[in-house]
Amino acid sequence: MNPFKEKGTPLESQVRSWKEVAQTPFLKQEVDAFTRCRVILMNGIEVEAGVFSHSFARVSHDRDLKQTLARLRLIEHQQQNTINWLNPADQSVLETTIAFEQVAIELTAYLARHEPDPYVKMAFDFGLLEDFDHLYRYSQMLDLIHGKDPNEILQGRTDVFPARPTQDHHNDPALRILKNYDKATASPITKAHALTLMAGEQQTWNYYKNVGNTYGSPEVRQLYAEISAVEEEHVSQYESLIDPTETMLEKWVMHEFNECANYYTCYMTEVDPRIKRIWEQFLSFEIEQLRIAAEHLKRLENRDPQELCGVDLPTPATFETNREYVTQVLKETATLRLVDGGEWVHVPELPNNWPSHRYQEAENKDGAPSEAVVAMRIGAAGAELVRTGDKAMAQEAGRVREMTLDGSDALNTVRGYDRLPTPIEEEVVRLGPLAMEVDDYHLPTNGANGKSTNERKVQAAADATPRPGTRPKK
Ligand SMILES: [Fe+2]
Ligand SMILES: [Fe+2]
Ligand SMILES: [Fe+2]
Ligand SMILES: [Fe+2]
Repeated sequence: MNPFKEKGTPLESQVRSWKEVAQTPFLKQEVDAFTRCRVILMNGIEVEAGVFSHSFARVSHDRDLKQTLARLRLIEHQQQNTINWLNPADQSVLETTIAFEQVAIELTAYLARHEPDPYVKMAFDFGLLEDFDHLYRYSQMLDLIHGKDPNEILQGRTDVFPARPTQDHHNDPALRILKNYDKATASPITKAHALTLMAGEQQTWNYYKNVGNTYGSPEVRQLYAEISAVEEEHVSQYESLIDPTETMLEKWVMHEFNECANYYTCYMTEVDPRIKRIWEQFLSFEIEQLRIAAEHLKRLENRDPQELCGVDLPTPATFETNREYVTQVLKETATLRLVDGGEWVHVPELPNNWPSHRYQEAENKDGAPSEAVVAMRIGAAGAELVRTGDKAMAQEAGRVREMTLDGSDALNTVRGYDRLPTPIEEEVVRLGPLAMEVDDYHLPTNGANGKSTNERKVQAAADATPRPGTRPKK
């Protein structure tokens, strides 16, 4: 689809009533995991649209431009509201957090798989493993605090497994400044990928910074403090990929183009008919917003917008299982670390005076919360929580957790990889009635409806034992 050839909704028809803005939320028990992912991503895309527009307005002298930006900003504001308000009130902060990390993993993996620039792909792979480890750490906490299984949210599409240890994600922040693409030669796909991921990570950072204090437990609060600091590094990393010589007008056009690309992908892949209509409506809004931004680029810089973004929409918001790809990246790159100049080396090649060690020593001085949560989960349940589609891989969790450390480790680092993850059968026994929520996280649409929890539990026990990390067959 060429968004420059389509006709969008006129701006005056994009203003909506409060009832149209604040729509009925999805049901957390019934929503498709990847619909929830699209909601989280598009919320981040709209937050970035608003933040960018304000930054632009603050450095602009052109009154007409400022007025146009303000008019469009109200629309972006309402779009963000509609999308974020699809999240239901009964979805806990930790449940939403699990979904944020699922977005980060599946989005980054998909973009890496489709990224034409090998350096940018490398940056995506590097960030991917960090969010993959965050999911594992938060999953331990979800079990401890809420007694819930991460698969209630993940629906078996994303593995829960240790990767590059979170305590090693803390760097001298200067190392996160990577090499930027060249706007003259970069593919529009690369531009859209970098912008999409930057927006997603920025919203993850926003979210953790705003909600990490809603728990009373010091361990939870410290875990959010620790992981949000990594998200801060991720924003630095992804924004540094973008060519800084792009003018603000070019960036504006790229933002609107990228919104078109993301809504188009959501529209094409959405399984929920009601939410699909929202993506369709917002795509039509963005086509007009892109036209307006492109007109300003022509008027003020005498530039052709299609030079920047081409005419074909990339598909950044595609959510699909990337399990094999993530496992391969894990095997090949878990011991990579950032070094000066926007490069990576494996742990044995790190220089003696690696600047990140000084930061890690200060930050992990009282122990790493991301290690504490694993220790607490082992203390409570006898083993760490791991969910993979591959049983042999599950047995490797402790070894991977320990072997990927950089050797200069937090004092509370969990040692001993002889403890194997608890088989799902033992989890069911340990959790009792809660196990229904573990194994039957997605209520069947027919047959078992109307049965009591106990009846369903009995039936579930009679069924073949589900593979950990997969949706049980009904
Ligand atoms: Fe928007
Ligand atoms: Fe993360
Ligand atoms: Fe991240
Ligand atoms: Fe927009």
